[in-house]
Amino acid sequence: MNYTEGYGLLKGKKGLIFGALDERSIAWRIALACKREGAEFALSNAPVALRLGSLDALSKETGASVIPCDVSKEEDVEALMLKVKDELGGLDFILHAIGMSPNVRKSKPYTDLDYKFYHQTMDISALSLHKVLHFAETTETINDGASVVALSYIGAQRIFSKYSDMNDAKALLESIARNYGSRLGHRGIRVNTVSQAPTITSAGSGIKGFDAMFEFAEKMSPLGNPTADDCADYCITLFSDLTKKVTMQNLFHDGGFCTNGISEQMISDLAKLHESE
Ligand SMILES: NC(=O)c1ccc[n+]([C@@H]2O[C@H](COP(=O)([O-])OP(=O)(O)OC[C@H]3O[C@@H](n4cnc5c(N)ncnc54)[C@H](O)[C@@H]3O)[C@@H](O)[C@H]2O)c1
Repeated sequence: MNYTEGYGLLKGKKGLIFGALDERSIAWRIALACKREGAEFALSNAPVALRLGSLDALSKETGASVIPCDVSKEEDVEALMLKVKDELGGLDFILHAIGMSPNVRKSKPYTDLDYKFYHQTMDISALSLHKVLHFAETTETINDGASVVALSYIGAQRIFSKYSDMNDAKALLESIARNYGSRLGHRGIRVNTVSQAPTITSAGSGIKGFDAMFEFAEKMSPLGNPTADDCADYCITLFSDLTKKVTMQNLFHDGGFCTNGISEQMISDLAKLHESE
């Protein structure tokens, strides 16, 4: 067995993957890695995303069915879980890779947010994890020993100005993951968030100033920014049986960014700026 063939880490496991829109999406890369590792899964996204995106191609490539669900609608989430239960029998892993802020999209400054948009940001990007877990439990779709991963960003701990209300959404998302992790542990179910570095995707590049955030992180991280495929490999370990006792954690996947104060690269770049003044 080698890396391209996979290690069979998810053989026999059934999953549900939210958030694949196009081939740059982190969820898309994770779906391909899940397939490589032997999992069987369903894909889900909002009806509008299914019309605009290219999920059919991923469905063909992986053999996964596509089930529409707008996570802001409780009835959609419940119906999705029942459908998944019918198709796959139960879930051993769930990936939540959903994020959207109308305030960020419309470049509303944090001190002048549109509150209707603010609710939408929280609902879609954070409360949706609560809904997914709630209906996964009430419909008895989630199996004992399952692993749930939601994608987060360091804006939950430190403020990145252009990330605006998404900083708040990620803080709430991580808190919901901890709360549910604490309540589902008796069934061996683990719930974690993976805090990924800036990654060039549709949601990522929709943020004004994203290029600067990406470059800053790249220069500050000893290992450099991880790609969406790197993130996929990390998530595979979390879905696998190799991490059965990891829960309620926010796991940084950022090349060391969150722990580094300043890098040699940044010092030399800033020195060059001063020299040219
Ligand atoms: N790209 C980055 O720099 C970065 C960094 C850290 C974390 N993340 C997180 O990774 C996750 C995936 O984002 P991505 O960068 O791959 O971008 P993406 O745009 O490919 O994925 C975001 C997904 O959310 C879905 N979505 C939006 N509203 C929805 C709704 N109402 N119902 C169901 N789905 C809905 C979109 O259709 C899309 O598929 C997000 O949670 C994002 O915040 C991204």
